[in-house]
Amino acid sequence: MDRFLVEGGRKLKGTVKAGGSKNACLPILVASLLTDEPFILHRVPNLRDVRTTLKILTALGKKVTFQNGTVTITADGALKNTLPYELVKQMRASFWVAGPLLARFKEAVIPLPGGCALGARPVDIHLKGFERLGASCQTERGNVILSAEKLEPAKITLRFPSVGATQNLMMCAALIEGETVLENVAKEPEIDDVTAVLNKMGAEIFADDKGRLVIRGQKTLRGAEHTVVADRIESGSYMIAAAAARGDVRVEDCVPEHNSILLECLQEAGVPLEIGPNYVHVKPYDGPLKPTRIKTAPYPGFATDLQPQWMALMSLADGAAEIDETIFENRFMAAPELVRMGADIVTEKTLARINGVKELSGAHVMASDLRGGFALLIAGLCAKGTTEIERVYHIDRGYEDPEGKLNALGANVTRYNPDKDDF
Ligand code: UD1
Repeated sequence: MDRFLVEGGRKLKGTVKAGGSKNACLPILVASLLTDEPFILHRVPNLRDVRTTLKILTALGKKVTFQNGTVTITADGALKNTLPYELVKQMRASFWVAGPLLARFKEAVIPLPGGCALGARPVDIHLKGFERLGASCQTERGNVILSAEKLEPAKITLRFPSVGATQNLMMCAALIEGETVLENVAKEPEIDDVTAVLNKMGAEIFADDKGRLVIRGQKTLRGAEHTVVADRIESGSYMIAAAAARGDVRVEDCVPEHNSILLECLQEAGVPLEIGPNYVHVKPYDGPLKPTRIKTAPYPGFATDLQPQWMALMSLADGAAEIDETIFENRFMAAPELVRMGADIVTEKTLARINGVKELSGAHVMASDLRGGFALLIAGLCAKGTTEIERVYHIDRGYEDPEGKLNALGANVTRYNPDKDDF
């Protein structure tokens, strides 16, 4: 398994370009199941989760090509409506095929999902929604079996604005004739991107004045061509890395307003920023990094996907910082590894108290989830000495060529595989 060796203390300077959003790509690729017509998606990052999604589409009977950031999906005979566990266990987002398959076949068998071990992560909101649309949902031997004689549009109130459930239900409702209304929905920019694609396919989806999603579904949907929105989590991760390393880094091709809260928090911490229409320039600073209190929340709140990276930054603050993680119950997995690097962090349930230290030191650490893995990379960039990060495959799920992008800024990050490379 690949590892990273990170030599700390290098100055970061230059430009890094944001890629297409992983979390928008995954549901958009899945939306191709709603049509037999060709579907073309540009600015697709070459990530493990994207490749898993393409394998899922192929397993379901689609013909897929992926070249230079463009995915083309065409029909290749009849689609299947069951998915093997081998693919689903790799990624929770594989469950998003349930909505389109149910809409097309009125029947689907999907193993319960895997993904990052961030806590229980149930799918009850998805299933409640499918039931409101007329489906029956049974769980048998690890599979969810969905079936319906007829699907009907409905008014559905989500008990929590789940991103995945909002997308899954939108995709299903887009192929049910009539008007479905979703209340208490997620408002992440990735939802807007999925909406744009479904509208290109012929659905009519809009947010009403009460913030509800109105979906005017159609009997059939067309193919579509689309360019994926910038990845706000990747962009934000590089902004935090630059701030932690006190670098001089311009993050380009991003949408700064999608990171509004992060930018406010960086400024509150004393990090100077220049914010342009499609870039954020993180400037070097000599003063202290001020500790802050953050609380993760659904968009537009502080993104839970940037919380571990923020923790790495706050490890170096001049005082005591606090994080309240309200989205996932088990999202402090990077904390003990950061402590091994000299950070002073105490976690209790959803709260983390971080007493900033003057310096982190390189250590042998292990990534145990995607964003926590990048947090270790950030800590390694700032630490004295060399950090060795195991289980880089977690980071590869959501960051395209992180060592290439960081090394172009002056970092020294080497990928190696101890089972293959002879050092
Ligand atoms: C998506 C993102 C993930 C991000 C998360 C929260 C993708 C591919 N993944 O994940 O990177 O961290 O949003 O912003 O877009 N929940 C339930 N029942 C459900 C569904 C969710 O209880 O049926 C709970 C989850 O356990 C979690 C919370 O709701 O505690 C948020 O989950 P959700 O918004 O659904 O996250 P995902 O869509 O899985």
